[in-house]
Amino acid sequence: MIATALLAAAACGAGQLATGTGTVQAAPRSDARDGGSAPGASPTGLSEWPYAGLSQMWSKASQALLAPMIAAAEEARGHPVDCRRAKCVALTFDDGPGRYTDALLKQLAAYRARATFFVVGQNAAAYPWILRRTAAAGHEIGNHTWSHPDLTRLSAAGVRSQLARADQAIKAATGIVPRIIRPPYGALNAAVRMQSSRPMVMWSVDTLDWRFRDSAKVARKAVRSVRPGSIILFHDIHPTTVRAMPWVLKSLSKRGYKFVTVSQLFGGATPRLAYSGGGPGIL
Ligand code: NI
Repeated sequence: MIATALLAAAACGAGQLATGTGTVQAAPRSDARDGGSAPGASPTGLSEWPYAGLSQMWSKASQALLAPMIAAAEEARGHPVDCRRAKCVALTFDDGPGRYTDALLKQLAAYRARATFFVVGQNAAAYPWILRRTAAAGHEIGNHTWSHPDLTRLSAAGVRSQLARADQAIKAATGIVPRIIRPPYGALNAAVRMQSSRPMVMWSVDTLDWRFRDSAKVARKAVRSVRPGSIILFHDIHPTTVRAMPWVLKSLSKRGYKFVTVSQLFGGATPRLAYSGGGPGIL
């Protein structure tokens, strides 16, 4: 069934929040501080050895201190999950970025969840800073065309142009070119598929969030329909969807689900066309 998602490309003044993701850095300046504060240290007549030794000791100590923090950061960035063993689900958000995406990023971070954002090139160009934060938080970015047309109605050159323009906008914002594509409305035929060698990623659970605009309904639909390996379709341009996510994240977490990107879900395999979770045409 083809969903007729609405594209809300309306400009909106999303506040730019300086909420960089926490990164852990080694602390070389502490070296200098320790060296400089060594009591009675003579700056002359000493070889570099004592300082080198002190530096090495500090380096080891700081590594030991930082290791758990780095491990936590790695975990937060989506430490590899083996979806052949774990119960995985791929949450996917289409049509953004938009004014509600930042709130969604915070909710996902609270559960250390990774997701996939199929963004519209026009919106990537309008909100590059939001897309940059999305990618920096470890989420996957997919190509959802430049202006959200039904690709089956375009010429081959038109399809390629839609994909290329979106790629350019995404690359300008994040430095990366998406490895996966989702055609708007799920509208796909052989002619469209021939225009790119990248996987065209569909979904196995449609929350119909664009139609309901009801957080409780959207959450119920997602939670009741999910299976291990599901790809769930949401749209982060709707505030009702973003408000549904804490419920979705909480109840799926309780049931043991790991939130992974689409590429993680397929574990490095590159399907030509991807559905999952028991939907038609698995891999
Ligand atoms: Ni869409």
